[in-house]
Amino acid sequence: MKRIKVLIVDDIADTRESIRRLLEFEADMEVVGEAGGGSEALRQAEKLHPDIALMDINMPEMDGIRTTELLALRVPATAVIIMSVQGEQAYLRRAMMAGAREYIVKPFSGDELASAISHVYEREQQKKEVLGAAHTPAVPERPRDGKILSFFSTKGGVGKTTLATNLAVELAAGGKLQVLLIDLNLQFGDVAVFLNLVPKRTIADLAQSGSFVYEDIKSYLLTHSSGLQILAAPTRPEYAEFVTAEQVEKILHEVKAHYDIVICDNVSRFEEISLASLDLADQIWIVTAMDMPTLKNTKLSLEVLEGLHYSDKVRLTINRSGREMGMETKDVAKSLGFPIHFEVASDGKTLVSAVNEGIPFIRSHPQSKAADGIRQMAKALTEPDLEAEKNPAHKETHRFQSRMIRKVFGF
Ligand SMILES: Nc1ncnc2c1ncn2[C@@H]1O[C@H](COP(=O)(O)OP(=O)(O)O)[C@@H](O)[C@H]1O
Ligand SMILES: [Mg+2]
Repeated sequence: MKRIKVLIVDDIADTRESIRRLLEFEADMEVVGEAGGGSEALRQAEKLHPDIALMDINMPEMDGIRTTELLALRVPATAVIIMSVQGEQAYLRRAMMAGAREYIVKPFSGDELASAISHVYEREQQKKEVLGAAHTPAVPERPRDGKILSFFSTKGGVGKTTLATNLAVELAAGGKLQVLLIDLNLQFGDVAVFLNLVPKRTIADLAQSGSFVYEDIKSYLLTHSSGLQILAAPTRPEYAEFVTAEQVEKILHEVKAHYDIVICDNVSRFEEISLASLDLADQIWIVTAMDMPTLKNTKLSLEVLEGLHYSDKVRLTINRSGREMGMETKDVAKSLGFPIHFEVASDGKTLVSAVNEGIPFIRSHPQSKAADGIRQMAKALTEPDLEAEKNPAHKETHRFQSRMIRKVFGF
């Protein structure tokens, strides 16, 4: 059996010794060397070619970040796992940017350490296989030119995630379409919770891997029982900053060629990442509700989108529609100066139980009125010509003023 070769880098001899002892129990791992500082680590790595270097951050002569940076250049086959103590978030980020593949927080158990090592090692092996395989012609996958749908609202709680997850499941369920749902609510994304999935890897891990080819992206996705694939949001709000708008653009460009439909669930704000997804979207699905504050914000959003020349790709949905709101759909359309494409009925009882069970209501309550709305949306995507014929409003373009946009965003 090939054992995973590990180099321990830490300036404290006792720490090196206790890590060595933790790894003694692992039959498939072998400590091939130790280094008490950065330069020694580089020398050892060049000589021993370890698979993994366990790297302390704070070392007197050359810190772990600089050592990681040099190691990535000089011995790129060695993957660095940073060992940090609680509260070194800023350092961690720099270490990841310097090329570290993973980090663990001290004090850690033998199991945690071994699982981090195996995880990184496997990921590196997969990468090497893909790189090796790149030269041999593979069976070509059907090239796709997927549609990107971006769900947006400037007010939280209107139902973006609810609609995005249910629509995605409905589209994927037939098995005919390859559908990917990306959670771009990077701080508090809850797509995985809605679908009762526990993410092992998230978009933050993908961002740190630095590779955005589909073969690599695939290994960061979750699969729902409907067949839907999901790229989950980071598991903690502080990891959101690992992901940049430029990386999101790269991911979207890449996945577009491999899926029929890519749905993005956004944060309720115009910021770099939501704008990147709106920019690349083929359709922007704005979700609104029948209350004054939401309508006011929706109107402002529509104006901003008009200013960005995105109006033609906007699809407007009223969520929780119903007479009891004291308004009618046509009043909403009139006050927004924009056609309403879809309506999803208010159905608190069904939705709360569906969310708590982690089953999208389109599956748990397919007979509900809210489920009808979701099926209408799905139909508009799978049979667009039919829908357009029935509802000529889809073809209308509406022009209106964009007073706010330059003032607010300086575009
Ligand atoms: N049509 C609806 N009827 C009743 N409750 C709904 C409906 N749509 C969404 N909700 C509830 O509203 C809350 C917020 O929805 P969510 O999708 O998380 O909003 P957003 O993603 O826009 O912040 C959730 O608890 C959800 O169950
Ligand atoms: Mg949400």
